[in-house]
Amino acid sequence: MDKIVIEGGYLLHGEIPVSGAKNAALPLMAACLLSAEPIILRNVPDLRDVRTFLTLLESFGVKWQKDGTVLVLDASTITSCEASYELVKTMRASVLVLGPLLARMGTARVSLPGGCAIGARPINFHLQGLEKLGSQNELSQGYVEAKVEGRLQGGTVCFDIPSVTGTENILMAATLAEGITVIKNAAREPEIGNLVDLLIAMGAGIKGKDSDTLVVEGVKKLHGAEQEVIPDRIEAGTYLIAVGAVGGEATVTHCNPQHLPALLEKLRAAGLSIEEGQDRIHVARKGPLKSVDIKTMPYPGFPTDLQAQIMALMTLSDGLSVIAETIFENRFMHVAELHRMGADIKVDGHSAIVTGTGRLSGAPVMATDLRASASLVIAALAAEGETHISRVYHLDRGYDDLVGKLSAAGARIRREKE
Ligand code: EPZ
Repeated sequence: MDKIVIEGGYLLHGEIPVSGAKNAALPLMAACLLSAEPIILRNVPDLRDVRTFLTLLESFGVKWQKDGTVLVLDASTITSCEASYELVKTMRASVLVLGPLLARMGTARVSLPGGCAIGARPINFHLQGLEKLGSQNELSQGYVEAKVEGRLQGGTVCFDIPSVTGTENILMAATLAEGITVIKNAAREPEIGNLVDLLIAMGAGIKGKDSDTLVVEGVKKLHGAEQEVIPDRIEAGTYLIAVGAVGGEATVTHCNPQHLPALLEKLRAAGLSIEEGQDRIHVARKGPLKSVDIKTMPYPGFPTDLQAQIMALMTLSDGLSVIAETIFENRFMHVAELHRMGADIKVDGHSAIVTGTGRLSGAPVMATDLRASASLVIAALAAEGETHISRVYHLDRGYDDLVGKLSAAGARIRREKE
């Protein structure tokens, strides 16, 4: 197991490039199952979750080739429709193969993902939605077995909560269903818009991109297509917050400022100077950090995936910040680790009250989940002294070359064997 060692207090400068979005690449890869013709994806990030997803697709008979950030996927021959527990338990996003496999093959056997560090992560909305399209779902031995005689039938699916992967699963299944499917209370994250673009390029009939109502006219077959993976807004936000925490000024490049409305507003309110370009954001910290309150919400609200990171920032502010986590039930595990670095945070149910102390001190800490580990990196960059972050495999799931990118921007950061 590796650890990351950071010597705090070194200002960030220059350019920090962002890779393709993990949470866009995964559904785009799942979409290859819908067609017998090759799909070409560009700007694919080099992440552990992408490699895991490729192993999963291989287990269905999918052939692939990756050259740098270009990935060609060929699902012309599907030899299995079963997603094993061994693979699914390491990555919940595996559930994204359920809709496409069922729509293309009429059957799918996918292990229930099980919970993860941040919550129970049920998939009831996915299953209820597929049943509305005619799927017969059975739960047995920890697997969901979905099957349909002939084609899925279009129907109306209304989500209780705008589930991101739930919307993606139903959207993909509906593209091959017979007739019209209406998805109401759909999630509006930009990653879903990226998937809509790919599916339309494959020949799907979809209206309502980026809205909370998607209307899909099913077709018999989908053909091959090419699609660029959108920039990772969570990676971009993580680096913007890092500059705010340690100070300095830098430009986050290869990103889309339109995808971070809530974060940019909060960073400006915290006193950072933010200048938006076409595909870049210039950030500078000139004066003291002001405390701001945060409430995580579905897009375009403040992203839950940036909650841990902005909490690290608020520990360095000049006042009190209330951070409410409304999406997941257990997403404060970074608090105990930030305490070890001197942060003053009190958790009260789904809210954390952060009393900014303006300073943190380096300490040995442990990553517990993907975004919590990013929060510890941000805290370590600003802390006095050295911080050792263990279990960085969590970080490798969702950050492409974070050590290389931050070190090129002036951070004293290195990776070592534990
Ligand atoms: C996606 O997870 C992201 N993952 C998560 O990113 C992100 O935190 C989350 O959306 C919220 O934005 C991918 O896109 C691969 P949800 P997802 O379904 O789709 C409840 C990261 O760090 N719910 O939108 O699993 C659920 O428990 C990861 O990159 C049900 O109750 O999230 C949660 O409370 C972490 N039943 C809420 O809805 C369901 O069937 C929103 O979850 C589905 C969800």
